[in-house]
Amino acid sequence: MESPIEVTEGVDGWNTIIFLYNSALKEVGTKLEILNDEFQHVHQYNPIEYIKRRIKTPESIVKKLKRYGYESTIDNMVNYVNDIAGIRIVCSFTSDIYRMAEMIGKQNDLTVVSVKDYIKHPKESGYKSYHMLVTVPIFLSDRVVDTKVEIQIRTIAMDFWASLEHKIYYKFEGNAPEYISKDLRECAEIVSMLDAKMLSLNEAILEAKAAQEA
Ligand code: GTP
Ligand code: MG
Repeated sequence: MESPIEVTEGVDGWNTIIFLYNSALKEVGTKLEILNDEFQHVHQYNPIEYIKRRIKTPESIVKKLKRYGYESTIDNMVNYVNDIAGIRIVCSFTSDIYRMAEMIGKQNDLTVVSVKDYIKHPKESGYKSYHMLVTVPIFLSDRVVDTKVEIQIRTIAMDFWASLEHKIYYKFEGNAPEYISKDLRECAEIVSMLDAKMLSLNEAILEAKAAQEA
């Protein structure tokens, strides 16, 4: 029987949950590598360019809890901070994003808790990405604990935009002048155009190659 994370407050509790989130990152990371390798094996093609993973720093966990209006307890962080363990999958083409999302959804031992498609519905900022919140069972010696991992799937171009936008916004602490926000939204449009162009170019190349081989 799987159980939610049970925690004690204090250093012991903290160490236990960081251990759980690290284990969850390993489990999900390995799954993704296997999916990518299998895809390469079957289709001679890698949908994943690269994967980044991180555990949220204690500072930003506390900051988020504060923003949500919760006390900084381990119980609250486990219940309300969904992105303590985060994995970012960076794909070549937009089509790869949906392919990855579908493959992740079909993994029997992962539970998809929620999905946010900021590609079909970009954020006000211009941000685009496909987010999945999943839980993965972590098998400890005496129990199984379902642990949350936030998966962000995006193209290289989307990742480029998000990384730079994050840096710029950080400097202004969220209060960037309107002309900067506007320019960033324009850059997001350019990123989308670039992704669309690269995708159609890739399709054209595949078709041309198939015609040559026929
Ligand atoms: P938080 O924004 O994390 O408090 O939670 P949420 O429930 O609003 O989640 P959401 O899916 O909106 O965003 C989660 C993560 O996506 C963030 O921690 C960022 O990594 C990323 N993200 C969301 N919006 C933006 C954005 O406008 N710019 C950038 N660079 N990243 C964003
Ligand atoms: Mg947000």
